Amino acid sequence: MAEPFDPRHAARLDDPDRLDYQPVADVLGLLELRGDETVVDYGAGVGYTTVPLAAALPRGRVVAVDRSAELLDELCRRVTASAAGRAPAATAPVDLVHTTENRVPLPDAGADAILTVSVWHEIYDDQSALDELRRLLAPGGSLAIIDWAPVERPVGPPAARILTLEQALAVVASMGLTATVVRPAGTLFAYYYAIVARASGPLA
Ligand SMILES: C[S@@+](CC[C@H](N)C(=O)[O-])C[C@H]1O[C@@H](n2cnc3c(N)ncnc32)[C@H](O)[C@@H]1O
Repeated sequence: MAEPFDPRHAARLDDPDRLDYQPVADVLGLLELRGDETVVDYGAGVGYTTVPLAAALPRGRVVAVDRSAELLDELCRRVTASAAGRAPAATAPVDLVHTTENRVPLPDAGADAILTVSVWHEIYDDQSALDELRRLLAPGGSLAIIDWAPVERPVGPPAARILTLEQALAVVASMGLTATVVRPAGTLFAYYYAIVARASGPLA
């Protein structure tokens, strides 16, 4: 069974080297945003991607979801501080959602895109979380998965706690999604694989 992230290790999410080995622009680039979408940042943590997402969605909305109230408290501080430094029209509203039973208060197909960064290895065997992501994703919408790969690296969880790219793709297929972008570790990111999977149907 997947091992949950321990909020006491939150400082690891702020590793300054991360900006080099996982540039946020490359993460967000996978979503090919127009700027008016509703994007769920699932397992947002303290917001490595949440605040940049809000800045990339001047006409959209971010729903930042986490099961850790402690991490969401810190994220709330960061979102508030970031919004204070910008013109209001330049930043999407960020709704913070504390999930206790994998329920996200959005309607069916309410997410144009869902981003999961370093989360897939924590939820791949949690069927109710996967069902909720599938419920949320709009027809034509994208689920982006960026997660640790079993390669030699100085950071991140041990290989026994993560998935291979093939295992991650099998979970995506079990959700009825089609992988349209597959980037093994060493191509886009040195330590992570990246997958973009689409729900069938017309793009909104
Ligand atoms: C390794 S952290 C990554 C945080 C953030 N995405 C980042 O890249 O900095 C994994 C996050 O996923 C959250 N998480 C794990 N399972 C979850 C679930 N079922 N629902 C919501 N959040 C979850 C954890 O609480 C933690 O904040």
